[in-house]
Amino acid sequence: MSNDIQLSLFNEESKFHQKQLIPTDGKIPVPPGTYTNMSELAQHCNQCDRCELGKTRTHAVVGRGNLQAPIMIIGEAPGQNEDETGLPFVGRSGQLLENILASVKLSTEHDIYICNINKCRPPNNRVPNPNEMAACLPYLLEQIRLVDPKIILLTGATAVKGITGDKRGITKIRGQWLEWQGRLCMPIFHPSYLLRNPSKEVGSPKWLMWQDIQAVRNKYDEISNNSAS
Ligand code: URA
Repeated sequence: MSNDIQLSLFNEESKFHQKQLIPTDGKIPVPPGTYTNMSELAQHCNQCDRCELGKTRTHAVVGRGNLQAPIMIIGEAPGQNEDETGLPFVGRSGQLLENILASVKLSTEHDIYICNINKCRPPNNRVPNPNEMAACLPYLLEQIRLVDPKIILLTGATAVKGITGDKRGITKIRGQWLEWQGRLCMPIFHPSYLLRNPSKEVGSPKWLMWQDIQAVRNKYDEISNNSAS
């Protein structure tokens, strides 16, 4: 047998074994510690059929940014642009998010890792349902373990519900620090909500976001200074 044929048989076999590792029933947990790095996890996400969303995705959208970022941002689920490119927050709401971060000198390249509760786009951008969120949660928990951020920002009510289980509206809980599994988290508005509410008047969602992102910057500086001294 030629080397090329042997190599391609080997590749096929290892793809088969990779796939065997993914519990295809969304109710079966993926144990913590399954992945040693993000590209292993990304490979699984791109083969995953733990829920129906796998059937209609173009790409699984795993994450982007610094893999050792001190701050992690968790959104809801990919939209059309994200499904097409395989990258989270690359559409209009992503651009706004980048501008908000830049306003306090944070960049996705250096300080941030961005990902979502669900890795696959829900049809017509509907909110992912509880089964879909539960099926995808083990991947997110592994991402949090691998990146090990100091601060987690939860953008919008779905991200808050997916991580903490808190079902309250985002306007009630945004801007408040909370502790989840020993990590500091803050719920913030989703940038698409800010696109629908463009006013910058005092008390408006955009104004509140400005307060929240400054509080995040201050907390990050405080943590960095404490760990340096
Ligand atoms: N909205 C999200 O919540 N996530 C994305 O990746 C894009 C838009």
